Amino acid sequence: MMLMKVLLQKATAKRQLSNISIIKAFCGFATMSKFDLPERLIGNDKSVWVEYIGLALKYKPLNLGQGFPDFHAPNTVRNALANATLGTNPLLNQYTRSFGHPRLVNALAALYSKLLSRNLDANKEILVTSGAYEALYATIQGHTSPGDEWIIIEPFFDCYEPMIRISGGIPKFIALRPTKASGTVTSADWIFDKNEMANLFNEKTKGIIVNTPHNPVGKVFTFEELQFIADLAKKWDTLVVSDEVYEWLVYQPYKHIRIATLPEMYERTITIGSAGKTFSVTGWKIGWAYGPENLLKNLQVIHQNSVYTCNTPIQEAIAIGFEEELKKFGQPDSYFTSLAEELLPKRDYMAKFLSEVGMFPTIPEGGYFMVANWTALENKVKLDEETDTYKDYKFTKWMTKNVGLQGIPPSAFYSNEHKHLGEDFVRYCFIKNDENLKEAADILLKWKNQQ
Ligand SMILES: Cc1ncc(COP(=O)(O)O)c(C=O)c1O
Repeated sequence: MMLMKVLLQKATAKRQLSNISIIKAFCGFATMSKFDLPERLIGNDKSVWVEYIGLALKYKPLNLGQGFPDFHAPNTVRNALANATLGTNPLLNQYTRSFGHPRLVNALAALYSKLLSRNLDANKEILVTSGAYEALYATIQGHTSPGDEWIIIEPFFDCYEPMIRISGGIPKFIALRPTKASGTVTSADWIFDKNEMANLFNEKTKGIIVNTPHNPVGKVFTFEELQFIADLAKKWDTLVVSDEVYEWLVYQPYKHIRIATLPEMYERTITIGSAGKTFSVTGWKIGWAYGPENLLKNLQVIHQNSVYTCNTPIQEAIAIGFEEELKKFGQPDSYFTSLAEELLPKRDYMAKFLSEVGMFPTIPEGGYFMVANWTALENKVKLDEETDTYKDYKFTKWMTKNVGLQGIPPSAFYSNEHKHLGEDFVRYCFIKNDENLKEAADILLKWKNQQ
């Protein structure tokens, strides 16, 4: 039984699901133990986050891996949360409306009606979820029938692939590739091949997931790129899932474009946002999806039968955060604009010290991650001390243990067939205190000079 389990895991890890039945027949086992992971979940049990958080706890490096700020969120939302739980209204600590706390859906509807120049119905076109993660899950689970194909642009936020597979769907991948190998590389230099993209669409395509601003590359998709994708989605009558959790983290002069605002696109687009990213409160885990009523209904089915309703006081606090932002909209003290301004020098500082140490960073147009090609430093790292398959895993683990700085291996954001495309890179996060970024620079420069 143990042997069969190992063989099954290997087969599914390679995404050779059809091999499962062959292995079963070969081993003579008709059924697995009732206590085993169900077949549809096999191969989806690895997570770079679980592994690297464990590594950070063990080796205590300076952690530039996970994407969260190490500084306080704005007082508006923190005070609003304290008031919600300690204030006079006892109901703010009790269950609220399943599809979103009324005050929050109203605030979201007001904001996105303004941004999309259309009237969103707060009760029918918005769903509040447990982080953008659940919004993605409800979108994919709520729309996928066995055999449906979803197009994913690589590198991708790693949960897209298992969410599709668990729903019975089939992911199809297309990679963004850097068009420059030297000089200053920006995330705009990472592009998809248009023919390759067009060839992925067919009558089985259920939808495409677009992430702009992009994690981990930082790409802010241009109008022309989005229009190209939109035209294919219309031609093949597919959905578009637009993961816009970094919508407010765009650096001048770039502009975030919502694909739902392109002609005839609202009807087929589900857009996903995150309060964690918007207000620097990633631990609060509130997100949302918005889109036309007929599409949102499918998400509601998943939400009401899994999470059912999200945390009330946190929704109240985020609603207040949005109400305040709406009053300051477009003004310099708006958090929507000030956070990106605050992050710009951090981005440039990180690009500078990574270059000084010998890496080739891609300067992001948005988001708070930076990918850097580390291969010029390969002879300074003892990759053979690590047992992983992919070089970026070896590099990041070796650096965590021996140099005291943690990054994330980008091959985790590629399909098995394309993992090699991520191997030369490391992803660092720069939404960190200046002292911690300075410490990261010192660690790297000291290490470089020791060699
Ligand atoms: C691209 C992308 N989508 C979704 C999420 C999930 O967001 P949340 O923390 O709100 O669940 C993240 C978090 O890092 C992300 O980077």
